[in-house]
Amino acid sequence: SYFCMLFICLFYLFLPHNNSSRSLRTPSFSLDYNADCFRKDGQRFRFISGSIHYSRIPRVYWKDRLLKMYMAGLNAIQTYIPWNYHEESPGMYNFSGDRDVEYFLKLAQDIGLLVILRPGPYICAEWEMGGLPAWLLNKKDIVLRSSDPVVAHDEALPLSERRPHHYCSGGRDVPAHHFVLNLFRSHLGEEVVLFTTDGAGLKYLKCGAIQGLYATVDFGPGSNITAAFEAQRHAEPHGPLVNSEFYTGWLDHWGSRHSVVSPDLVAKSLNQQLAMGANVNMYMFIGGTNFGYWNGANSPYSAQPTSYDYDAPLTEAGDLTEKYFAIREVIKMYRRIPEGPVPPSTPKYAYGAVTMKKLQTVADALEILSFSGPVKSTYPQTFIDLNQAYGYVLYRTTLPVTCSEPTPLSSPLNGVHDRAYVSVDGVAAGILERNKVISINVTGKAGSQLDMLVENMGRINYGKGINDFKVHENAFSGLKIH
Ligand SMILES: *[C@@H]1O[C@H](CO)[C@@H](O)[C@H](O)[C@H]1NC(C)=O
Ligand SMILES: *[C@@H]1O[C@H](CO)[C@@H](O)[C@H](O)[C@H]1NC(C)=O
Ligand SMILES: *[C@@H]1O[C@H](CO)[C@@H](O)[C@H](O)[C@H]1NC(C)=O
Repeated sequence: SYFCMLFICLFYLFLPHNNSSRSLRTPSFSLDYNADCFRKDGQRFRFISGSIHYSRIPRVYWKDRLLKMYMAGLNAIQTYIPWNYHEESPGMYNFSGDRDVEYFLKLAQDIGLLVILRPGPYICAEWEMGGLPAWLLNKKDIVLRSSDPVVAHDEALPLSERRPHHYCSGGRDVPAHHFVLNLFRSHLGEEVVLFTTDGAGLKYLKCGAIQGLYATVDFGPGSNITAAFEAQRHAEPHGPLVNSEFYTGWLDHWGSRHSVVSPDLVAKSLNQQLAMGANVNMYMFIGGTNFGYWNGANSPYSAQPTSYDYDAPLTEAGDLTEKYFAIREVIKMYRRIPEGPVPPSTPKYAYGAVTMKKLQTVADALEILSFSGPVKSTYPQTFIDLNQAYGYVLYRTTLPVTCSEPTPLSSPLNGVHDRAYVSVDGVAAGILERNKVISINVTGKAGSQLDMLVENMGRINYGKGINDFKVHENAFSGLKIH
């Protein structure tokens, strides 16, 4: 997503099978360089796929969303495995409940959808730190998106256990790429078809493509399709045309308008790509929600909101849209789509006005919110030092001198990541915000309680600043009280 140099991708196509008549034949999936197509079990094959991230949809809705994708005429889905979602602290794995990726893949398989799996370790995806666990920063000088963190990842994903039902294909930092590549090969075998994906331009393909991996491109409905596939042809003179991320909408940022892309534009571009015989994955087919603290941010710092609606053909709530039906009409012209009714949008219930009741302030509730008690330190510690990667940290000190006039309280190194609610003796004094407000005025007597409630608004998922300890080490030692 977001023309990210997508690290490693893997056509990890799961085989839909019928348990009663399981054939012993080994499923095969390959590239045909003569006929410019994929071959599945020897037959010419083209995927029309859609992205769906299980980590952005509660498990109870997985089946409904997958079924709607199937009924739109898709024959495959694409998903990411966010490493940090499955290993929140080192060695503590969670693959259950909403994190049960195995069950998600099984559902897709039962419905009749192949799966293109993008297992990371880095995924971008507008996801907190691009899927990398924040605890990697415990090693202060770690080089992210290199082979450094990948070593830990090897332990994390029991890929070898997933062998039984996969079709294979899928891949991408040069030593790191090769490292990851060898890792996947050792888990999945030589027959896996690995691919890379890059922006549809020669400069992206130049650094992204890796020898021995199939190079694909990604582009949206506003792009010149001929030029985009020419770029792919430059890297791959023969083989199937693949748009790995055809953008049905676009991501949002805090404070900006919701991104919208017209259904007609999407349908028209999809039609042109399919007419050329291309394989297309629509990113996103359903975006869903960034629950908890899982949203990412872009650089220069701009956090993504809770919603990952993406203006996708299925809304954040999984509802059908005009775009959904426009896409379905296009697909109908190229393959026989399943008969029967499309599952309806979920009924909604009007809850009426909900009255909110103020219970306590953060300062009053500290003993409940921070059950392990305060950490005392001469200098401020980062979120990572405190072993609290996400959420909020309250930094508390006292005014060293009496400020009877409005006195600047500043963070000259712009180290407040990302937003701090400042109060003196419980009275709000202002908000410091990364890149935006690096100085506010305070007044108060010497010894007054100075509170700075710092909010981590999400780690950057792509580009500069991905190593974010949250609260620069010198943020508050840099605070000057004149
Ligand atoms: C694992 O993740 C699920 C889904 O988010 C959650 O309900 C469960 O409590 C987690 N298990 C542990 C041991 O943290
Ligand atoms: C699209 O790109 C092709 C090939 O680069 C070029 O010949 C054509 O003029 C472009 N079309 C438009 C509308 O810009
Ligand atoms: C802080 O107070 C000074 C002196 O009253 C004033 O000049 C300045 O504009 C104030 N700064 C802010 C950010 O309010």
